[in-house]
Amino acid sequence: MLLEVRDVAKEYRIPGQRAIRVLDGVSLDVAEGEHVAIVGRSGAGKTTLLNIIGGLDLPTAGDVKIGGESLFAGKGAARRRERLRAAKIGFIFQSYHLMPELDVVENVMLPAMTGETRIPAPRERAKALLEKVGLAARLGHLPAELSGGEQQRVALARALMCRPQLILADEPTGNLDALTGAEILKLLFEVNDEPIACVMVTHSAEAAARCDRTFALDSGRLA
Ligand SMILES: Nc1ncnc2c1ncn2[C@@H]1O[C@H](COP(=O)(O)OP(=O)(O)O)[C@@H](O)[C@H]1O
Ligand SMILES: [Mg+2]
Repeated sequence: MLLEVRDVAKEYRIPGQRAIRVLDGVSLDVAEGEHVAIVGRSGAGKTTLLNIIGGLDLPTAGDVKIGGESLFAGKGAARRRERLRAAKIGFIFQSYHLMPELDVVENVMLPAMTGETRIPAPRERAKALLEKVGLAARLGHLPAELSGGEQQRVALARALMCRPQLILADEPTGNLDALTGAEILKLLFEVNDEPIACVMVTHSAEAAARCDRTFALDSGRLA
């Protein structure tokens, strides 16, 4: 199993107030190449769950394994988390999260610059990925010079830069019109030669329908 989420709970404790339990025992398995959609109302904890799966946030209880390796349990978990995140996971966010002062090619190369991953000829790979997402003519441009859909294409290329086994996408079409969103989804599912697993938070029924399985996050649990 590529991704194993086991009994993950998350509480926010603010001194003097009752703890807020956002996740209350979430378990999920995702196989290699499988696409899973997560839906749920605003505030249900979808982003929190995705951030924990990606090792960007810590659970209050439970664990996540990527390729059998634990993100949170045991000695050296922080170090292991960093390595797994860089080597195995690509992230896509609703608001793109591109670096405004870097051009398109530099933004795509960024995940290969951490020292956690060895990508030969990163600039050439970045350019090839940008070509695949239809941005060959925009290589030297800054994010601010691109439309939302084009910025999300850059973010998709960046997510693919280090050949991840898992893509985590948080409402990737949430800021885009229906047609542009559909183009991004098509790319997300078809741009890779070999299938990459994906966990996608989405409000789009069309996006969910393209996935192998859909879960609803409600009252801190997946159903
Ligand atoms: N740092 C934080 N401190 C306290 N509460 C938080 C914090 N981050 C998120 N929350 C709360 O956790 C809940 C889930 O948030 P989130 O995961 O962003 O939901 P979703 O992505 O489903 O809209 C919300 O009620 C939010 O207010
Ligand atoms: Mg969210």
